[in-house]
Amino acid sequence: MEQTIAVVGLGYVGLPLAAAFGKKQEIIGFDINEQRIEELKQGYDRTNEVENEDLNTTSVEFTSNPSDLSKANFIIVAVPTPITENKQPNLVPLVKASETIGENISRGTIVVYESTVYPGATEEECVPVLESASGMKCGEDFFVGYSPERINPGDKEHTFTTITKVVSGQNDNVLDTVANVYGSVVDAGIHKASSIKVAEAAKVIENTQRDLNISLMNELSVIFEKLNIDTADVLSAAGTKWNFLNFSPGLVGGHCIGVDPYYLTHKAEKVGYHPEVILAGRKTNDNVGKFIATSLIKQMIKKNMPVQGSTVTVLGFTFKENVPDLRNTRVIDIVTELEEFGVNVQITDAHADSGEAYEEYGIDLISYKELKPADAAVFAVPHEAYLEEGWGMFDHLLKHGKGVVFDVKSKLDKNEYPADISLLRL
Ligand SMILES: NC(=O)c1ccc[n+]([C@@H]2O[C@H](COP(=O)([O-])OP(=O)(O)OC[C@H]3O[C@@H](n4cnc5c(N)ncnc54)[C@H](O)[C@@H]3O)[C@@H](O)[C@H]2O)c1
Repeated sequence: MEQTIAVVGLGYVGLPLAAAFGKKQEIIGFDINEQRIEELKQGYDRTNEVENEDLNTTSVEFTSNPSDLSKANFIIVAVPTPITENKQPNLVPLVKASETIGENISRGTIVVYESTVYPGATEEECVPVLESASGMKCGEDFFVGYSPERINPGDKEHTFTTITKVVSGQNDNVLDTVANVYGSVVDAGIHKASSIKVAEAAKVIENTQRDLNISLMNELSVIFEKLNIDTADVLSAAGTKWNFLNFSPGLVGGHCIGVDPYYLTHKAEKVGYHPEVILAGRKTNDNVGKFIATSLIKQMIKKNMPVQGSTVTVLGFTFKENVPDLRNTRVIDIVTELEEFGVNVQITDAHADSGEAYEEYGIDLISYKELKPADAAVFAVPHEAYLEEGWGMFDHLLKHGKGVVFDVKSKLDKNEYPADISLLRL
C-alpha cells in the first residue's frame, strides 16, 4: 500500500526529513508553532537547514491543524526531547505529540518516533498515550517503530539522505514497511535494528560516546594548562598513531550531546544502576566555560591588566559554528563567570537571533560593527565569517590591537599570532 506520510514537529530534524520525502511524494508537515508553519508556507526556514528553493519545490502540505494527521498512515515524530532543570528527561513534548496523534490516528497507521529517547521510551511512554487517546490497541489497530535521527545541523555533507538510517519496528512487517519508506529517500542505506529498544539505545550511546570522548580532551586540556603544554600540539602528535581517536576539547552545548546522556543515566538509575563514567564526563564538560573564563582572567592579571571594569568581547554565542541555534549554548557559562569578576562583557554573533538571545538568556547581542575595542577577547564560536578575517580582526577588536585572546577551538593559526597578543587555547 502506498504510504501517506506525515511529519510531526518541523524543527532542525523534522523539516529536512519532510523536505526529503516531499521531493518524492506529497506529504503532510505538522507543527504546533503557527508562526513556523506560516514561515514555511512562505518558503522561509529560520534554521537554515533547507534552502528556500528546495522548500518552494517540495510537496509538503504545511499545517497546524491536527485533524490533517488523519489523512496519513505513516506518521514520523520529530519533536524535542529536552531535559528539566534537574537534568531529567522532559517528555512533555513527546507525550503531547503522542496525544495529538492518538486523537487523530487512522486505523492501520504506523507511528515512527525519531526523537532521541532512552531505551524503552517508545513502548513504555508513548504507546500508552497513543492507546488511551485513540481508544485503539497498539499491535492490532496501529503500530509503532523507532528510527533515530543522526543529522548534524549546519553540516551540508552528512545529511538526512547521506547518513545510514537505523530503523526498527514492533514486528517484522512493521520493520519492513519502515525500512522501505526510509529506503525510498535515504541513499546511504538502511540498518534494520533487532528491536525498538536497540535502535533507541544505539542513538543515545552515539552521543554519549562523543560526550565522553570530548570530556577526556577537556580534562587533558586542564592538565596541560598546568603543565604549560599546548593541548592542540599534543593532540596533533598523538593523532599520528593509527588508533588514536580524533577529538578535541571544547564547550559541549546544544540540544543533543550535552543532553542525551542524561536520558541514558535516567534510565540506568531507574533500573538500579548509578552510572559513574557518563556523569563524570558530563560534569567535566559542564565546567569548561568556567575554566575558559578563569584562565583568561588569570592571564590578564599576569599581564598587569586591570580586571574590574575591563571590557571583554565574546565572539560567537551559538552552541556551535555556522548555525543560529542557541539552545543550551555553554558560551553563557563564560559570560556569567566573566561578569562575576566585574568584567564588562560584550557579545556578538554572526548567526544568532538577538531577540531569542534576550528571551532565553537575558543577553543583549550587539552587532559586530558596534563592538568597542576591548582589553581581551574570547573567540568562543568559530563562525566562518570570523575565520575569514583571521588574526586581522583583533586589530580593531582589541584596544590598539593588544590584549589577551582565548581561541576556544584553536582555529586561529598559532604560528601567525601578533606579538602584541597573548594567546590562550583549550
Ligand atoms: N537538532 C539536532 O541536531 C538533532 C539531531 C539528531 C536528533 N535530534 C533529536 O530530534 C528531536 C527533535 O530535535 P530538533 O532539533 O528538530 O528540535 P526543534 O526544537 O528544532 O524542533 C521541534 C519542533 O517540534 C515542534 N513541536 C513541539 N511540540 C510539538 C507537538 N506536540 N506537536 C507538533 N509539533 C511540536 C516545535 O514547534 C518545533 O518546531 C529531538 O529529540 C532531538 O534530540 C536532534
